[in-house]
Amino acid sequence: MMTFTELLKNRRSIRDFQDKEVPVKIVEEILQESTLAPSASNNQPCRFSIVNCKNTIKALSDESKANLLDDFAQNKASFNPVYADVLKDKNFNVFYNASCVIFISGSNAVYSLDVDCALAASYIMFSAASRGLGACWIALGSQIRDPKTKALLGIPDGCRIVAPIIIGYPKEIPPASERHAPEILRVIS
Ligand SMILES: Cc1cc2nc3c(=O)[nH]c(=O)nc-3n(C[C@H](O)[C@H](O)[C@H](O)COP(=O)(O)O)c2cc1C
Repeated sequence: MMTFTELLKNRRSIRDFQDKEVPVKIVEEILQESTLAPSASNNQPCRFSIVNCKNTIKALSDESKANLLDDFAQNKASFNPVYADVLKDKNFNVFYNASCVIFISGSNAVYSLDVDCALAASYIMFSAASRGLGACWIALGSQIRDPKTKALLGIPDGCRIVAPIIIGYPKEIPPASERHAPEILRVIS
């Protein structure tokens, strides 16, 4: 059993996975734990779609990449131009060939949706790490807009994806990238 500090250190963004599926039952246990995350007014607005079919994951990656490149061409996306080259690479899978992706979504009507989903994502990533699984938030995979694809994911009209999270058995857990010290602006006591 990991201590909390060990868990903080072990939760790294994992992008390289063993060729081994994560059973849906384990994903469901992780999602059950994620419901313990706080949400504004305890509104619990997050909805989850589990995709553990590699062909579907590849198609979702292609759709998100195409939409991001469209946005970039129309100056709607403000990401670093280096990403545009990566996204044009047909072989680049934004989900890094993970065997499972969880899409966290919710209603556009919820004012705190981004924050609530981010907290659920955080709980999912820690729950995965506590089970020896690796996870990574993939913002590049969030641009799924085709109503048919959203319907395939079970996402109703008026709802949007906030956080796609890949999950899998890590090949290795890299050390944490460098962090600067907390920038404490003031201590008033
Ligand atoms: C909101 C958000 C979006 C992210 N999107 C991506 C992404 O699209 N692709 C990716 O490889 N990593 C993505 N990451 C992972 C970050 O690159 C990673 O958290 C950061 O480099 C720190 O590494 P660590 O998670 O191992 O501590 C994202 C992380 C967050 C919080």
